[in-house]
Amino acid sequence: MMKTMIFVLAALFLTGAGAQTRGKEKKGGPKILVAYFSWSGNTQHVAEQIAKLTGGDLFRVETKNPYPEEYVPCTEVAKEELEKGVRPELKGKVENFDQYDIIFVGCPVWWHTAPMAIWSFLESKEYDFKGKTVIPFCTYASTYRDETLAKIVELTPDSKHLEGFGAVDRDTTGLEAWLKKIEVVK
Ligand SMILES: Cc1cc2nc3c(=O)[nH]c(=O)nc-3n(C[C@H](O)[C@H](O)[C@H](O)COP(=O)(O)O)c2cc1C
Repeated sequence: MMKTMIFVLAALFLTGAGAQTRGKEKKGGPKILVAYFSWSGNTQHVAEQIAKLTGGDLFRVETKNPYPEEYVPCTEVAKEELEKGVRPELKGKVENFDQYDIIFVGCPVWWHTAPMAIWSFLESKEYDFKGKTVIPFCTYASTYRDETLAKIVELTPDSKHLEGFGAVDRDTTGLEAWLKKIEVVK
């Protein structure tokens, strides 16, 4: 009799434990945010591909004062901001930032580093990146890919980091393989 009771209790316990594990799996994996700054659309394109493949939410980092639409004036404003260390004011806000476990942060290379809007975003008091997993990505014409990815890492010193990705303009060759390699996508 005692043996039967122990068996029944053990069976109940195991079933319960199993259901709990299944429940957790059902709730889904980590919550993902894909935050990006993009002036001419390349980084937006890459961000959208990442969001599509990972199921992440998209957030576009935007400045209160838009950058000039013409290329040369834009490079001039960007250069001055970098040289003066300006942190441009941003508009909009990530809703429920705390819910995210993994945050992709992407931008174009601007003057060999990340645009100052990304510095504003990552330094913002609105968001606590501590303990989050930050994954950098960038788009560029030909140079300073690694420096820009490294800047995003440097600006999030309290986060964990996974290997980043750089796309030339909006060429997403290798994007899915990278997401699999860092095990964000199966
Ligand atoms: C202000 C400015 C500075 C740039 N500096 C660089 C650079 O240092 N190295 C590079 O390879 N591309 C540079 N580019 C090219 C952009 O990084 C590239 O076109 C990028 O894909 C644009 O992304 P977006 O369309 O998301 O804005 C620069 C472009 C701009 C507008």
